[in-house]
Amino acid sequence: MLLAALTEKLTPVITSLGLPESCARVTVADRPDLADVQCNGALQGAKALGQPPRAIAEKIVAAIKEDAQLSGSFSDITIAGPGFINFKLAPSYLAAQLTVQSGDKKFGFVVPPSKKILLEYNSPNMAKDMHVGHLRNTMLGDAVKRMLQFSGHNVITDNHLGDWGLQLGQVFSELQRQQPNLPYFQDMDGPFPSEAPMTFEELCVIYPLASKKAKEDPAELARAQDFTAQLHNGHKGLRALWQHIVTMSVADIKKKLDEIDVESMDTWYGESYMEQYIPMMMDELAKKNITEEIDGAIGIQVAQPDDKFDIPPLILAKKMGGVTYGATDLATFYQRQKDFDPDVCIVLTDFRQELHFERVYRAAKRAGYADRMEFVHLMYGTINGNDGKPYKTRAGSTPRFEELVYLSFDKARERLKEIKLNEKLSPEEFEATARQIGLASIKFGDLINHRRSDYIFDIDKFVSFEGKTGPYIQYTAVRINALLAKAKEQGAQSGRIAVDEHQHEVALLLLQFPEIVLEAATQYAPNILADYLFRLAQGVNRYYQNVHVLSESDAEKRGAALAFLQLSARILTQGLSLIGIMVPTKM
Ligand code: ARG
Repeated sequence: MLLAALTEKLTPVITSLGLPESCARVTVADRPDLADVQCNGALQGAKALGQPPRAIAEKIVAAIKEDAQLSGSFSDITIAGPGFINFKLAPSYLAAQLTVQSGDKKFGFVVPPSKKILLEYNSPNMAKDMHVGHLRNTMLGDAVKRMLQFSGHNVITDNHLGDWGLQLGQVFSELQRQQPNLPYFQDMDGPFPSEAPMTFEELCVIYPLASKKAKEDPAELARAQDFTAQLHNGHKGLRALWQHIVTMSVADIKKKLDEIDVESMDTWYGESYMEQYIPMMMDELAKKNITEEIDGAIGIQVAQPDDKFDIPPLILAKKMGGVTYGATDLATFYQRQKDFDPDVCIVLTDFRQELHFERVYRAAKRAGYADRMEFVHLMYGTINGNDGKPYKTRAGSTPRFEELVYLSFDKARERLKEIKLNEKLSPEEFEATARQIGLASIKFGDLINHRRSDYIFDIDKFVSFEGKTGPYIQYTAVRINALLAKAKEQGAQSGRIAVDEHQHEVALLLLQFPEIVLEAATQYAPNILADYLFRLAQGVNRYYQNVHVLSESDAEKRGAALAFLQLSARILTQGLSLIGIMVPTKM
């Protein structure tokens, strides 16, 4: 990888001058107008050596220049300001590196030591329709998964369905009111109908109604709680009804994931699966004196002396009986350690669960359920409307998961009709293209932001072929692919990569690809990759406008340009796929 390789090259020079190895670090130049890469080692080492940084920098530069092999990689080395060393990379060096890169499946990516990573995302609450928050969660989770897999990690994805909570009791209660004669409410062993008594759409209407009633009326709430307890206690009919709801919900979720090109998760344990471990867990923790009675409930103290504010204990069992969300998640740590023993466990939720997971993780540490495992809670901000407040539909409600997706498809269709693509593509191709562009709009519009930031959902901006957008990058790749296809038709061969002044900027970016992916994956920050892809697309477009590949009569030059463009398109395509975006054939 470019920066690592340059750092390695400088290391012997740096250490021979008595500077620590860390001073050899090469980074991308802060001032791209002056240099390609830079080394700040002279400034960092000045104290240790007791010499002015500029004098050290001069020594470093002199030593590099003495070494013909080393200095051959650079076309210019200068010292700037107090002692920054600026390097311009030699065209021959860039060309040689690009040649190696183009022959490598991973474009020069050196895989780090492989980790086993359990990645939990999507995880909606059952019987409730997924909403816009789940969309952000899922796009982010999918991009993180793709980047980690590219990095060679063993990623196990888990959908931790909220399939065991009060919302089910609420649905049962309302359903009984609507259809009192259903067999599920009777005390019998079965058999129960194999068909669900309602469709998923009907179910999604029942829940909000039931939840409203429970909020307004304590008696309703008690009824729902009672139903939930009966479900937990194994009531046969309620279990059968519950099974219908699980089946319907999972099918609906899988359909929606598919709609946004997100692969189904490897496991779907859900909260209910953890139930089996809770009695054993409570026993064990009580025996080890890890749990204690807190105001009549049972919980674990998780406060630490250096906490900046009060961290309340994690309550596992309520005064009135019944397990808590905390107990279920503690059992989830137990199950994950037992069944997977991952190096890292990652959970995606919004900020509201920050304190919850902080406490659960602390409790898991105390309980011995996270001995080796590093825990990462990836939290994300909200998708806002133009007013800067959480996005609402015209009717004033929180948009459902698919509403924004379909909106993006509509906008993409409009956009494609404007450029008359409907006349050039079959209806199926047109639809597929609109879909890919729509998805690129919302995925890139989301992932270009750091996950913690809120952002404004501006579909007209997101779907544009110009500006910092997914379709702009797709379009860049499509254009190059079209040019490459034309060249092929004309019999023009791609040849040996050479780097001229028009290509310099792009060459430098292409070679950064592996280190950008590594950084984005390590920080779980697809925005780093998204931003890079935008800069790369801009550079490629500038280059593309400056050269006339097809009319170039010098075969060697033409071949070099074609090889260069081919590599650019491949890296754009690979990069986009790591954030879940596909490149259409035409647009
Ligand atoms: N079902 C929860 C919700 O929709 C998210 C689950 C988060 N993961 C967990 N292990 N508790 O808010």
